Amino acid sequence: MPASLPLQPAETPVTARIIPVDTFDLVVFGATGDLARRKLLPALFRRCLSKQLPSDARIVGVARRPLDDDAFRALAHTALADAIGAFSPGADDVARFLGRLHYVAADPAADDGWRRLAELLQASGDRTRVFYLATAPELFGPLCARLAKEGLASAQSRVVVEKPIGKDLRSACEVNDAIGAVFPENAIYRIDHYLGKETVQNLMALRFANALFEPLWNSTHIDHVEITVAETLGVEGRGDYYDRSGALRDMMQNHILQLLCLTAMEPPSSLGAGGVRDEKLKVLQALQPFDASRAAALTVRGQYRAGSSSGVAVPGYLDEVGDPATRTETFVALRAEIANWRWAGVPFYLRTGKRLAQRVSEIVIAFRGIPHSVFEQRSGPIHANHLVIRLQPDEGVKLWIMIKDPGPGGMRLRQMPLDMSFASAFGFHNPDAYERLLIDVLRGDQTLFMRRDEVEAAWRWADPILSAWADSGDGPKAYSAGSWGPSAAVALIERDGRTWHQDADWDNQG
Ligand code: BG6
Repeated sequence: MPASLPLQPAETPVTARIIPVDTFDLVVFGATGDLARRKLLPALFRRCLSKQLPSDARIVGVARRPLDDDAFRALAHTALADAIGAFSPGADDVARFLGRLHYVAADPAADDGWRRLAELLQASGDRTRVFYLATAPELFGPLCARLAKEGLASAQSRVVVEKPIGKDLRSACEVNDAIGAVFPENAIYRIDHYLGKETVQNLMALRFANALFEPLWNSTHIDHVEITVAETLGVEGRGDYYDRSGALRDMMQNHILQLLCLTAMEPPSSLGAGGVRDEKLKVLQALQPFDASRAAALTVRGQYRAGSSSGVAVPGYLDEVGDPATRTETFVALRAEIANWRWAGVPFYLRTGKRLAQRVSEIVIAFRGIPHSVFEQRSGPIHANHLVIRLQPDEGVKLWIMIKDPGPGGMRLRQMPLDMSFASAFGFHNPDAYERLLIDVLRGDQTLFMRRDEVEAAWRWADPILSAWADSGDGPKAYSAGSWGPSAAVALIERDGRTWHQDADWDNQG
């Protein structure tokens, strides 16, 4: 095993509070796969470095591949080096982390390996036991059934699953039934990694720890809301999965709806899992349903063609997935509405896509304009205030306000941001979403995980859009890689006399 990984300065912020968790066994199914290597192992390693994991806590990798503990540790070591890049812990830290790792080769459909897994887990007695199913979703049900059959799903057990949870309401119910047949709802952790992002949690701090915004957070003062999750990447070798999914299922039904829920929900009475999830569910249930004519008028699908991404020529989607006939959308923009007292009449413009001009994810709260101007025309236009909550890159919050342009020349007005970049304010790199979420699972805090009824309500909203698209006979509109999507997405908002917010800084971001 190599002596050390290349180094980077200490990353833990001075304000961070590291509260150790109770000891545990974390069993990762799919331990040799992409999610485990790129996200889970590096996240656990960082928490281990922060001394949050008790010294006897164990991580047991399970997959079909026949490996022993040492071979798995070598694989994990390579994964850490790849994922952590410039970060450089000492050799002792790495060795200590790798020493926690164990490996069992097992397959849900075969008997080999299960006895060994049972012995390994029983040896550690009564402690928190987490099963992380980092596998294809088709295995969620069979794995849960197998865990029950082997007597491994104890009263202290928790199970973690990732999206996609189904591809429509019916299949999502089937998956939820299969997991629910073994684990009670309070032991099921459905991950939406967007909820673990620091800025997403900051949305709750912004809304509920400040008296300033909440009185304005309604249709009387807000003109519209925009949520954009734009990626420059294409499908990156995940064409098989993506082509069966598309942007609505991959991003909108989960990540973007969750952002919408946190933006639009009523203040919960506390941040406990029940309160927050009840309020999010009410938002999902209040979403105006789409029928065929609303889907035709208020949604736009796109698919990228060859173009240039960050200055490099890239192929189109059809070539990437090797199917000239596929109609899977790589972009979606739509106008959603929430039918309740707070939001009636306020459009929520949602958009996401791959191979767009820039990587940027943000929520824009566009306030209404002033009712009357006291300024002369030559003072210049008065722009409505925008509050921009930037998730990535360069996490932060900007409040665009009007000011007087300094210096002589009369009353000239200008739009400027009150600008807080978290990186410059706190001087550290935000922890990856998986660090926070894994620790929450180990602590038994379900606040940032999706409850069954939320997932199903989100599908109930998405299904009619998917059916309307399938019935319409039209395909997605083409857009060039490196653009902002099809022009119809611009028309969608401009028809209402509005434009997508474009931060001046976007031009400077990579
Ligand atoms: C995943 C999607 O859930 O989120 C991917 O399946 C997408 O297609 C990814 O690229 C985006 O996550 P992030 O954290 O990079 O914004």
